[in-house]
Amino acid sequence: MGDRVLVIGSGGREHAIALGLKESKGVSELHIAPGNAGTSMVGENHEIDISNIDEVIKLARDLEVNLVIVGPEGPLVNGLSDELNKVGILCFGPHSKGAMLEGSKEYANEVMMNLDIPTAASVKIEDIEQIEELIDDFGPIWVIKRDVLAGGKGVTVTGNKDEAIKAISEGIKLDGFVLLEEFLEGEEASMLVVMDESGFVCLPASQDHKRVGEGDLGPNTGGMGAYAPAPIVTDSVKNKVIDRIIVPMHDWLSSQNTLYRGCLYVGLMINQHGDPYVVEFNVRFGDPETQVTIPLISSDLYELFLATSEGRLAEIEVEFHNRHVLTVVLASEGYPAKSMTGRIISGLENKVENCIIHHAGTKSDGLGNLLSNGGRVLAITGVSNSLYGASVISYKFIQKIGLEGSHYRKDIGYKSL
Ligand code: AMP
Ligand code: GLY
Repeated sequence: MGDRVLVIGSGGREHAIALGLKESKGVSELHIAPGNAGTSMVGENHEIDISNIDEVIKLARDLEVNLVIVGPEGPLVNGLSDELNKVGILCFGPHSKGAMLEGSKEYANEVMMNLDIPTAASVKIEDIEQIEELIDDFGPIWVIKRDVLAGGKGVTVTGNKDEAIKAISEGIKLDGFVLLEEFLEGEEASMLVVMDESGFVCLPASQDHKRVGEGDLGPNTGGMGAYAPAPIVTDSVKNKVIDRIIVPMHDWLSSQNTLYRGCLYVGLMINQHGDPYVVEFNVRFGDPETQVTIPLISSDLYELFLATSEGRLAEIEVEFHNRHVLTVVLASEGYPAKSMTGRIISGLENKVENCIIHHAGTKSDGLGNLLSNGGRVLAITGVSNSLYGASVISYKFIQKIGLEGSHYRKDIGYKSL
């Protein structure tokens, strides 16, 4: 008899986690809340409001689950992990104090400054009057960040001074302040680090594509595609990331009396000398990074989650496949500004070999149709012995999918291909 597991969330990340857990011998029942049409094919979906902690706790208790795995940041920042802990249910995902690393960029900057972790210099602007005196110290190019959970969309990066001033003024009006940051040059990569107080495991680095358009143009999105492993993270870069960023963060987090048992997502900028800087911390797995990372883990996924949530990660060995994974996100018409949803998705029966269909914003209409139900609808994931092979698989299949007005980037992986 295996364990009962509840996964919180409804995106491609949660579908990828659910598919990984399905292969674990230790799992007998898989529940997802609220889930999507894809997760309903792997386990049982539960239509609850995951921003309501009481509802989640009630569901976890009613189902008598052994472990809750939290996908998105919102519930973690709101204290879901703290409350599960209080009622004696194991949780993969940090305590609310740890989650502030993502919940507040200002806080994360302060932590990094205290620990001497390389990141961009930044200044807080609360008053429109300050703009004139500071703007030329930071650009061009200007990076303006709203200090809110905005799904990667609260950041403006621009070479246009008027646009920068507008973003600062609007941010101050909305939130009372913004952060103006030094522009970091280089290539980005995402490092997902599973950790608890006993140790940490770096999963293979990946590269996301945050801008909506080809050639990294247009507005920021939650992520339009990803691939792993990312060759920009060579062994030498990885060692610098571990020495300069992960070890100090792990030491510090482990010294706190709150638990950090989950994933620390380190968003990196790697400059031309191979020196890594932190662009952001997230306190959860990335989306779509998870879709390209989980297929690389050859060890039992449930054992990894369970050991971490019990604080005994150091006791287990985590192994990886020697292969390449690439995912392309199919987005709704209008994404990221305003997404058109409720449209029929067709062609999924044409799936090609070594391709995983990760559902994100999908739902079933109960009449046998699959409908779009969000900005990012599907992530089409190819698995191969080479990055090129993985890309051929994803693109071969995505072309066969029908969804009126949908769009996807044609250049995922271009920096490495
Ligand atoms: P964030 O939500 O902080 O990850 O920012 C979203 C995206 O904006 C990042 O993935 C980067 O592409 C870009 N970005 C954020 N901060 C900087 C920075 N200081 N320098 C250059 N690009 C940045
Ligand atoms: N793909 C970026 C994120 O998950 O934050």
